[in-house]
Amino acid sequence: MRRPCAEDGAQITALIAAAPPLDRNSAYCNLLQCTDFADTCVVAERGGRIVGWVSGYRPPAAPDDMFVWQVAVDSSARGEGLAARMLDALIARPAAAGATSLITTITEANAASWALFAAFARRHGAGLTKAPRFERDAHLGGTHDTEWEARIGPLPTTD
Ligand SMILES: CC(C)(COP(=O)(O)OP(=O)(O)OC[C@H]1O[C@@H](n2cnc3c(N)ncnc32)[C@H](O)[C@@H]1OP(=O)(O)O)[C@@H](O)C(=O)NCCC(=O)NCCS
Repeated sequence: MRRPCAEDGAQITALIAAAPPLDRNSAYCNLLQCTDFADTCVVAERGGRIVGWVSGYRPPAAPDDMFVWQVAVDSSARGEGLAARMLDALIARPAAAGATSLITTITEANAASWALFAAFARRHGAGLTKAPRFERDAHLGGTHDTEWEARIGPLPTTD
């Protein structure tokens, strides 16, 4: 597991495109994540191929939070604890210092994602609360299921 670099961009875009129900990203979006946001993104490689990805950032308006945007694991590497290990690696990074909560958004039907973040909360002895963040009709033009914000905290302290 490591920080991404610009040369990873194309593989990451392809990994996300092959991981429904994640929204697909533009190549450019992933390139910005791989460069400007590399300190809060994680890639996992196996045999020289990228099989795991976590994107995140510290929201400028809420610097005590670590926001996780997407988590993707290639189908060949699922069920081995990789997503869990990437999230743990992210909050152990120097770039996560001082973060007291991990935030993400999840659609109601994404059982794998709820299980991943519930397990993360359990592992770190933290609570998980949920509330609608981006709603189907008010924010998503009626074309996308409501994104629920999951807030997990307090995170373990790292120095
Ligand atoms: C969700 C995803 C990232 C999980 O990756 P993974 O490496 O297989 O997950 P892990 O092995 O680390 O499992 C972590 C926890 O989630 C649970 N989990 C993982 N996939 C699950 C599934 N399909 N259904 C139910 N629970 C699941 C595991 O049982 C584990 O919980 P536990 O510790 O209580 O047993 C992967 O399936 C994926 O890329 N899916 C498509 C994209 C997506 O939905 N991403 C998440 C939204 S951001």
